[in-house]
Amino acid sequence: MAAPPAFSSRDPLSPRFWDERFERAFTPWERGEVPLALRRFVAAGQLAAVAGQPPAVLLPGCGSARELALMCEAGWDATAIDFSREAVARARALAGPWADRIVQADFFAYAPPRPLDLVVEQAFFCALPPARRPDVARRWAELLGQGGLLAGCFYFDDAAKGPPFGIARAELDALLTPAFECVADEAVEDSIPVFAGKERWMIWRRR
Ligand SMILES: C[S@@+](CC[C@H](N)C(=O)[O-])C[C@H]1O[C@@H](n2cnc3c(N)ncnc32)[C@H](O)[C@@H]1O
Repeated sequence: MAAPPAFSSRDPLSPRFWDERFERAFTPWERGEVPLALRRFVAAGQLAAVAGQPPAVLLPGCGSARELALMCEAGWDATAIDFSREAVARARALAGPWADRIVQADFFAYAPPRPLDLVVEQAFFCALPPARRPDVARRWAELLGQGGLLAGCFYFDDAAKGPPFGIARAELDALLTPAFECVADEAVEDSIPVFAGKERWMIWRRR
């Protein structure tokens, strides 16, 4: 396997880290397609319109945002955000009619225009160093009202180096159970090699 290119930024908390990798097309975390479990979730119509309004959905740390079109086509009011300028440019180039639903924003500062029904997790949580995990969990809980869902693929591993930074199941439970109840936990069938055997499709419901 070819060695990865040399990068100047080593800090995944900086947008520059991700800009560089998108600029150089070094994106080994990318599936290139929507995970099967998310396809099934969308097709199952588990999110209903409330009071005539389509479900409000956020895809944080969206990268190329391949999941966005599927959710918009389902009629959901979906927005994808990323703090990397290069990621946003790439996502917009791929998004066709949904390009204006991609916003350059920092997850920790972004305020959605209306309360969210769903936050989709896709290789964002594992992109951040472990010290940031309590802040992510707190922000998920703030963004979702009671009954709102956090759904996606969670990466479990104990390697110290990342990204991706895997988490232990007990640590994830400890972070999330004060505000969320786990309502689905399934093996992922279509992982790409970097996540293979180590990720699970989970749905957490806001208490
Ligand atoms: C490993 S990539 C995953 C991208 C995409 N979700 C995927 O699965 O292909 C992590 C992404 O999170 C973005 N990111 C990291 N920290 C962020 C933050 N605080 N706010 C918004 N985006 C962030 C990065 O710019 C990067 O695009």
